[in-house]
Amino acid sequence: MTETPASVPAVSPAFAAELAAVAARIAETAGRRIVELRDAGVDVAATKSSATDVVTAADHEAERLVTDLIREARPDDGVLGEEGASDSGTTGITWVVDPIDGTVNYLYDLPIFSVSIAATVTDPDAFADGRRAIAGAVSAPRSGELFVAAQGGGATRNGVPIRVSGQQDLGLALVGTGFGYTAERRAEQAEVVARVLPRIRDIRRLGSAAYDLCMVASGRLDAYYERGLQPWDYAAAALIASEAGAELLGVDAQTPPGEPLLLAAPPAIARALHDTVSAKR
Ligand code: IPD
Ligand code: CA
Ligand code: CA
Repeated sequence: MTETPASVPAVSPAFAAELAAVAARIAETAGRRIVELRDAGVDVAATKSSATDVVTAADHEAERLVTDLIREARPDDGVLGEEGASDSGTTGITWVVDPIDGTVNYLYDLPIFSVSIAATVTDPDAFADGRRAIAGAVSAPRSGELFVAAQGGGATRNGVPIRVSGQQDLGLALVGTGFGYTAERRAEQAEVVARVLPRIRDIRRLGSAAYDLCMVASGRLDAYYERGLQPWDYAAAALIASEAGAELLGVDAQTPPGEPLLLAAPPAIARALHDTVSAKR
């Protein structure tokens, strides 16, 4: 991965909104394309961290499509994609892309998968990977949903403003989570879920971290947490959740949200869920 330039561009609301519109247009285009590819049939092209961590030809094609469209719209920006796109650019903006988030659902033709595209700037304090989205879009093409946010401009679903739930009681919270692909990671995640499950309404494992975070943003899940996420899983959707009123927490006060832990919840229950996830209660 190449270095992001140290200079951080000034971000006016109008500029953030312009980038959000670019992200939205490209996410929708790629969403349509991955549905076409899915309907034509999908095979595993390769495996990554484990035999169950798969990548399909559609992941590669969608990433190429997204990066080509980004380069057409914003030729001097950097791009970082899950399937290998890596280019530092010269503007201080880096686009972080997950061409298909929810690849296992995609493989099985389960309807929850998404395209996630974020325009990010360097910010070591905001997220564990050192970048922060200033604009982002998540397209969930099977459900016909497009989630968009721009820094300071709120979050929308199909153009309509969204908000986190008003849940105040962790015991009544419907909580999303996800699991990584390695056996070691899953054994650890199983221990956490065993601790959390008796203390909440129920768990949902939808299969796309970006979509999970958009569900928190829409109040359709009360909260979400996961360990082991990569920047492309959360870059766009964490902005969408926070613009919709979610509090984002990392593993501890010194560590911003990201790979070690990303928890998103309405402020009234965020700390209680964090304590439960991290075995403090
Ligand atoms: C995965 C999904 C899943 C989450 C995993 C991610 P992928 O991304 O977001 O919900 O639990 O941690 O790796 O592999 O489908 O792009
Ligand atoms: Ca992903
Ligand atoms: Ca992916």
